[in-house]
Order: sequence, then C-alpha cells, then structure tokens
Amino acid sequence: MKRLVWLLIALLALFPLALADGAADYGKFCANCHGAAGQGTPGVFPPLAKWSGNFVKAEEGRAYLVHVLVFGLQGQISAQGKTYSGFMPPFAQLSNGQVADILNYVLTEWNKDLLPKDFKPFTADEVAKLREKALTPADVAKERQALAKKLGLK
Ligand code: HEC
Repeated sequence: MKRLVWLLIALLALFPLALADGAADYGKFCANCHGAAGQGTPGVFPPLAKWSGNFVKAEEGRAYLVHVLVFGLQGQISAQGKTYSGFMPPFAQLSNGQVADILNYVLTEWNKDLLPKDFKPFTADEVAKLREKALTPADVAKERQALAKKLGLK
C-alpha cells in the first residue's frame, strides 16, 4: 500500500515536467529570435504572442504553423501591420512531439484570446501527417500569402 502511494506521488510529480516541455524547448530553440515572451522585434523577428493564434482559425493555418517550424520560412510577410522579409531556418531536427508541444505552448500561453472556441491542441500524430510532404522555406511563404488573404490578416 505504501509503495502504491509513493508510486502515485512520483507519477504526479512527473506531470508538470511533461507540460513544461513546450516552454523549455521554446526557450532553447525560439526565444533568441522571437523573444522570451514571444513579443518579437518589430521589423526583424515577427511576434508570436497575440498573433500566431490567428492562423489556427483555418485548417490550413494549422498546417502552416507546423510547416514554418519544420521547413522554415523565407519571403516577405506582414504581421501586426509591420513588414518582415527575413529568413527563419528550418527546425527539422525537432520530433513530432516537440513541434506539437512548442506550438501548444505558444498558442495557449500567449494567444488565448485569439483561439477558436473549439481549439484542439496539436498532437504528435497531426504533426507527423503535416510534415510528410517536404516543402522549401519559399513554398511555406506562398502558403502564408494565401492564408493571410483568406483570413484578412495584415
Ligand atoms: C534565427 C532566428 C529565428 C529562430 C531561432 C526562430 N525563428 Fe521563427 N521566424 C524568424 C523570422 C526572421 C521569421 C519571419 C521570416 C520571413 O520574414 O519570411 C519567423 C517566422 C516565424 C513564424 C511565422 C510568423 C507569421 O506571422 O507567419 C512562426 C510561427 C515562427 N517563426 C515560430 C518560431 C518558433 C516556434 C521557433 C522555435 C522552434 C522559431 N520560430 C525560431 C526567425 C526565427
């Protein structure tokens, strides 16, 4: 009985670790450019806070977010009224689970107000499907152009 209690305590202790993965990986792979709070640098690195949530309003937008992380992005974009024409390197080394956790962290931590009511967190399976077909950073920019038009983002 005592053993069981300890086992339960150990399992509970591990839970926050699983949830914290997205935050830790964000800090490791993304914060250098997009800022510790996803605020970006106007004109240089686009913001993710109060912005990335716009994309999940369309199914293609979920695909777009996965594609940016895995395949990178190169082309002119505008975000929160500012123009960017930089290059984001691909992070092909991230596992499906890492991509899902990082996106879920960015979306639920800094984009709550923009998420659709029926928002479903990304899963590793969804990421696996969406990264099957390889794209170039320029292809991803084209995807974004169509998406921004559809969603009326400026
Ligand atoms: C070396 C700097 C750098 C790093 C590191 C980086 N990014 Fe980016 N990211 C950029 C730049 C620059 C752009 C805009 C590219 C352009 O102008 O075409 C961008 C674009 C994006 C976009 C698209 C924004 C939009 O409005 O469409 C998302 C989402 C994003 N990054 C998320 C991430 C995440 C999550 C990570 C960590 C896995 C990350 N980035 C790591 C530089 C970086």
